[in-house]
Amino acid sequence: MKFVPMAELLRDASLRGYAVPAFCIWSMEELAVVLRVAAELRAPFIVMASRFEFMLMSPAMYADCAQSLMRHFTVPAALHLDHGESLEQVKACLDAGFTSVMLDYSARPFEENVAGLRQVCAWAHPLGVTVEGELGHVGKADTVTAESEGDSTLTLPEEAARYVAATGVDALAVSIGNAHGQYTRLPQFDFDRLAAIRAAVNVPLVLHGGSGTPDADLKRAIALGMAKINVATDLTVAMRRGLQSELALAQPRWLPHSLNLAVAGVIPVVERWFQLTGAVGRA
Ligand code: 13P
Repeated sequence: MKFVPMAELLRDASLRGYAVPAFCIWSMEELAVVLRVAAELRAPFIVMASRFEFMLMSPAMYADCAQSLMRHFTVPAALHLDHGESLEQVKACLDAGFTSVMLDYSARPFEENVAGLRQVCAWAHPLGVTVEGELGHVGKADTVTAESEGDSTLTLPEEAARYVAATGVDALAVSIGNAHGQYTRLPQFDFDRLAAIRAAVNVPLVLHGGSGTPDADLKRAIALGMAKINVATDLTVAMRRGLQSELALAQPRWLPHSLNLAVAGVIPVVERWFQLTGAVGRA
């Protein structure tokens, strides 16, 4: 199959009350593994690449490889730029055939964020490509304390309505107490805020920082309109554990073998996320 626009996946998820998991996938071996699991479970999902994936491969190389792998599987999936850093990077991903792009101007002033995303929509929409914006800022989990949101800034519902109307984004990433990375204390989601944002905008909502979210909070967030759940850390933790135990062997194996085993360690993690989000059997 070919990658589909992310909006198609999110539309179905919103209509039927589940969420689509979006995995940060750093290597083609990992993508092959996730595609296989998704096809077996008939679960739609989103492949995400960002600057970390582009350190050794350009967006065009990444997209070409991902599209080649995708041809071997029958499962609906989108290819998404996560946390796009600049208009140039977004343009490179559009030229490469990504079916969805995010420009992350969430740390910039409101007007700059709006102007950037409006430009991305002007480029992407004629190509049928989905656009994700972020308002409020989802920061890092290890900066959150009992007293403060750390480096996050919570999303204001009224501002979210103005943002979506002014930019034309197809999906909105929001900050409601979620954060990226490993939580050092349990996240406290502001569900009233989420419900108010849901009532204020008519596009699917995105939860960044999915890893470590308690199951009950995740289900409640999905019921309140989160249609895409971003997951990275859970996968890297599984891979790191696998690699550490391989390297600790008295007689370490041939390195490619160890790397393959470490990557295969994501299988139970992605299976769990497909179950948790309700994506299983939706394809
Ligand atoms: P986690 O690493 O916390 O799962 O967050 C991933 C993410 O939001 C990527 O955009």
